[in-house]
Amino acid sequence: MKPLDAIRLAGREVLPLIEGGKGIAISAGVSSGPWAAAGGIGTISAVNADSYDSQGNVIPQIYHGKTRRDRHEELVRYAIDGGIAQVQKAFDLSKGLGGLNINILWEMGGAERVLHGVLEKTKDLVQGVTCGAGMPYRLAEIAAGYGVYYYPIISSARAFSALWRRAYKKFSEFLGAVVYEDPWLAGGHNGLSNSEDPEVPEDPYPRVKLLRDQMREMGLGHVPIVMAGGVWYLRDWEHWIDNEELGPIMFQFGTRALLTKESPISDQWKLSLTSLKKESILLHRFSPTGFYSSAVKNNFLTELEERNTHQIAFSPELVGDLDTLLEVVPKHKGVFVTSGDRTRAMEWMAQGYTAALKTPDCTFIFVTPEKREEIRRDQTDCMGCLSQCRFSNWADNEKNSTRRKADPRSFCIQKTLQEIAHDGPIEDNLMFSGHNGYQFGLDPFYSNGYIPSVKELVERICTGD
Ligand SMILES: Cc1cc2nc3c(=O)[nH]c(=O)nc-3n(C[C@H](O)[C@H](O)[C@H](O)COP(=O)(O)O)c2cc1C
Ligand code: SF4
Repeated sequence: MKPLDAIRLAGREVLPLIEGGKGIAISAGVSSGPWAAAGGIGTISAVNADSYDSQGNVIPQIYHGKTRRDRHEELVRYAIDGGIAQVQKAFDLSKGLGGLNINILWEMGGAERVLHGVLEKTKDLVQGVTCGAGMPYRLAEIAAGYGVYYYPIISSARAFSALWRRAYKKFSEFLGAVVYEDPWLAGGHNGLSNSEDPEVPEDPYPRVKLLRDQMREMGLGHVPIVMAGGVWYLRDWEHWIDNEELGPIMFQFGTRALLTKESPISDQWKLSLTSLKKESILLHRFSPTGFYSSAVKNNFLTELEERNTHQIAFSPELVGDLDTLLEVVPKHKGVFVTSGDRTRAMEWMAQGYTAALKTPDCTFIFVTPEKREEIRRDQTDCMGCLSQCRFSNWADNEKNSTRRKADPRSFCIQKTLQEIAHDGPIEDNLMFSGHNGYQFGLDPFYSNGYIPSVKELVERICTGD
């Protein structure tokens, strides 16, 4: 393995190794500080991060507002306080070494307000902001306003080109790096576009080469590209290092960084990582953001798959082959379905999936009455954590509505990510993971249940292993 040289980034000499931002409360001050102290760049998630009371206890994010708008305001406050608290913790633990960035999702509710609120208080403690999920056109202007660098996370050269032409070229001096996140392999939300087939992963090399060619034309040949998604052993990426065609390259670790002593995920989550198999990770489209995402196929995802399978088309009137009457509860309404679907629906109802819920696509899904209650409750409790939510129809606009029907085939991502981050059951919550999570079980570094410190992990990565 070639020696891994430090790289100059945001005015600092750092190892070209980044801990990927992970919300909610997964890449927090306790893990990103040590990552920076080890010489790399730690990323603090500022997506509804935890804040602390005067005793140092996590403040539970409980909502009192009567309306979604009121609760959204509470959420923005929690997010700003949490972001600031985590940056301060990371900064203390970093001992002034390496570098620190914060991460936000552009499509999170109140993204710009949260970013302003956190940077106002932390601009001297962090060097940059990484941001993905959506097209963060205003990211550059906001970051530059605080004198910090920006790191767009994109999954194609085309997306970067659109951002550059429309907004970023005016703020080129603050572009820290461009993060290429493999949309087939990375954990968390994935930037697959409509023209890309989720079943047909593409080799990242030509895609990154295309990005570099394009960046050279823009005068950005010197700006590093961060390869994120599917990176485990650096020895597998040796040909990317000091490669003239690709120019300066850094690597980002999301999944592998989950298993360290400092990582704040629960012990049950840590324990489960070494038994992941290749087929344990599912690239799916249930997220209320509308994006693809990758997570462990546990009971939580299996139930969502089931909801989507227990689905039939209907019409209020007899049309075409929707010619068979079916009475659905809770409203005991007669609707028309195909005769085959009527048989399937009767079978599901006989199995206890007696509650029919309408989707925005003129279909019904069949769930148990308990699940229906949970879905309704979660939709009612919505606190507007996204700019647009398919599950509750909340939107961060004047009407606070997407103007579409709420979609019961999705789920409240805020609720489940808060639960799993705070010791909730890992089988019943969304457990984001990259597709190389199965490597935990194969990599001898973790044998006999060994959990490294962040420092040990960074040192290990540097060796190529
Ligand atoms: C549990 C988990 C949560 C994540 N949350 C976020 C997030 O909030 N924002 C973000 O930009 N990326 C998020 N990611 C993506 C990582 O930052 C990183 O880019 C990605 O995991 C790299 O691919 P890998 O999983 O193959 O290492 C998340 C990844 C995981 C595994
Ligand atoms: S229902 Fe949607 S917008 Fe509301 S809190 Fe949940 S995920 Fe966020």
